[in-house]
Amino acid sequence: MNAYDVIFKKRNGGTLIPEEIAFFIQGVTGGSISKEQAAAWLMASFIRGLDDTEMAALTRTMTDSGDIIDLSALNGSKVDKHSTGGVGDGTSLVLAPLLAASGALVPMMSGRALGHTGGTLDKLEAIPGFRVDLSVDELKSQLKTVGCAIFGQTARVAPADKTLYALRDVTATVDSIPLIAASIMSKKLAEGTEALVLDVKTGTGAFMTTMDGSRALAKAMVAIGKKSGKKMLAVISDMNQPLGAAAGNSLEIWQAIQVLCGKGPDDFRELVLTLGVWMLILAGRAGSEPEARKKLESALSSGAALEKFRQMVKAQGGDVSVVDGDTPRLPQAPFQKQILSPVDGVVTSMDTRLIGLLVSGLGAGRSVPGAPVDNGVGLVFHKKIGDAVRSGEPLATVHHRNEDDFEGARRQYLEAVSLAGRPEDKGPLPKVKRPPLVYEIIR
Ligand code: URA
Repeated sequence: MNAYDVIFKKRNGGTLIPEEIAFFIQGVTGGSISKEQAAAWLMASFIRGLDDTEMAALTRTMTDSGDIIDLSALNGSKVDKHSTGGVGDGTSLVLAPLLAASGALVPMMSGRALGHTGGTLDKLEAIPGFRVDLSVDELKSQLKTVGCAIFGQTARVAPADKTLYALRDVTATVDSIPLIAASIMSKKLAEGTEALVLDVKTGTGAFMTTMDGSRALAKAMVAIGKKSGKKMLAVISDMNQPLGAAAGNSLEIWQAIQVLCGKGPDDFRELVLTLGVWMLILAGRAGSEPEARKKLESALSSGAALEKFRQMVKAQGGDVSVVDGDTPRLPQAPFQKQILSPVDGVVTSMDTRLIGLLVSGLGAGRSVPGAPVDNGVGLVFHKKIGDAVRSGEPLATVHHRNEDDFEGARRQYLEAVSLAGRPEDKGPLPKVKRPPLVYEIIR
């Protein structure tokens, strides 16, 4: 077997046998196959696709390239949630403590901002002192004492994915269903949970913009997980507009604390409850949707979920005064300015990818891997799809570091948000349907 033949076969549309995939990926990780050959194989796989057997072999080889976290000695059912990435989606920040407060164990391995999407680890690092680089021993001990932990992928978990992901990022081969499915699931299979709920986004701010693409991605990941003995379920949720009312690291921590206090935006809270219900059922801590929902609502209203969040922040070295309402301790941008609507109208659509890129461009994202991010910057949304706005009323507030950043942000935001006015400037404003929050459940 050699690398050239494997690339040649895939380039010509052939189906690779598991041994060929294992040989190739192990060669890339071990250094005997060059980055150039790996990039060529990725492009061939992107264009030709991978069938279910190839995707399963790729996932398994990437999982086996590193350590598998063994949590079997811990009593209790372990469950996680993973989102394919969006704008304003800080549900992980709420779900980990909420599920822990409802009796499940939640070892949540999360990621950083990627492209136009935010990252849970970056958001948590807005809390002064918060550490995401837990060792496996620290993780186990925190799961015993607190019940949840949110931590980063160590160098020893799925290193093959790290290498391939970095290559995909620079070779325009990210948005491929089999490559995304194998990448996400290779890490999730290494994480040591028995159950996983996937939040697969669809719409203008998702990696998969169409329902067909999102459904195919959800089905692929559910199938991979089930084959490995995990309890799996995927929720296809909307990303045609940002989730909640804020995007940006400190702003999203603030928003998550609001939801943990029983407040916060309705769509954010509802998605938390939807995902949480399935997590609780898969973890065997509730027998039905109404029972699970009742448990979660009670953990929010009693303050038990907020207390778990406080314990998690403390255990991971963070400043707990932030949780107790001292939000000025979160990094803040020096300037806050409103974007005003130029007309009377109703919001008809939001280019969520463009909005995510705007937030990233303000400093919340990275243009170079590993670069620091600005936790204080971001956007607060005052109007979403279906909302009416009067001329001169604020559509959003920009939190920015440099005074000069506002004008560009304003222009980009007005480009991303479409408004419909009165037909022929007379009569009532048109009615615009809000997109549903959840489209489908894939079991
Ligand atoms: N997140 C991942 O971990 N991998 C992908 O390929 C896309 C999103």
